[in-house]
Amino acid sequence: MPLSLYGRSLLTLLDYSPDEIRFLLKLSAKVKAEAKKGRILRRFQGKTLALLFEKRSTRTRCAFETAFGEEGGHPVFLSTADIQLGSKESLEDTARVLGRMFSAIQFRGFKQETAEVLAKYSQVPVYNGLTDLYHPTQALADLLTLEESFGDVKGKTLVFTGDGRNNVARSLMVICSKLGTNFTVITPAELNPDEELQKKCRSLASASGAIITVTSDINAVTGADALYTDVWTSMGEEDKKDERVKLLTPYQVNQKLMDKTGKKNTIFLHCLPAVKGEEVTADVIDGPQSKAWDQAENRKHTIKAVMLATLIK
Ligand code: CP
Ligand code: NVA
Repeated sequence: MPLSLYGRSLLTLLDYSPDEIRFLLKLSAKVKAEAKKGRILRRFQGKTLALLFEKRSTRTRCAFETAFGEEGGHPVFLSTADIQLGSKESLEDTARVLGRMFSAIQFRGFKQETAEVLAKYSQVPVYNGLTDLYHPTQALADLLTLEESFGDVKGKTLVFTGDGRNNVARSLMVICSKLGTNFTVITPAELNPDEELQKKCRSLASASGAIITVTSDINAVTGADALYTDVWTSMGEEDKKDERVKLLTPYQVNQKLMDKTGKKNTIFLHCLPAVKGEEVTADVIDGPQSKAWDQAENRKHTIKAVMLATLIK
């Protein structure tokens, strides 16, 4: 039977098989090629998308809104200042109502559980646009960017340095363990990704051939094909800023660290927004090895691919 993702939510990539992820990446590359040719398609005509945001966003909101709107769909942006999300009426009731009016829902916010409840009660596809635990659409864009630089990502090595327990590091660990991409997290022990997720990913990795490493040793960047970092304090953790700067300063990505990989063609990745001078120096993120801007563009193509795969029969 041909692979179909019609009707599916994307809450975490743990729910997607390696073949399904590869399918989405292939579709993303196709969607990107169509966009470069300037093809005008109206595949979301007659469809509606609710964009729920508890946290701020530039890329994710713009990617969903433009990808859906330019194909004739009608996206509606709803922040917590606009609608009830568990206050005044239950989340379940909001989900039921949204499900009667929208073809799909994007949720960005704090709890993963909110995305799960929205999916369960709305009965329409729900896309996780970032929660405290996962950022799956980001990981798809990251792997598309890696593929664009290196072709097959199996056997390549992606090294993440910084806050190893954050949503971006966790999602990268999941996607790499499924696709056979070696993944190293370099982080102080206090910020290790949680044991349960590590266990799950190591088991997935044993099937795909990926090597998953968690270490505090910055020398583990040696051999990296891609060096990735993210902000030291994620949204919702602003009170931890001083503590994080102290803990993570030795893990900054600068040119010296890029050179330490020992590979001339190592690329630099960052999900953005970046705090230049903290997790990465300006010369690296704005320099020739950086693919951060392609990565940002790829958010749109991968998000469009996810919506096409799940909304169009
Ligand atoms: N990378 C990312 O999710 O960016 P935004 O927070 O701007 O959406
Ligand atoms: N880890 C960051 C990612 C932002 C895209 C955060 O959650 O704020």
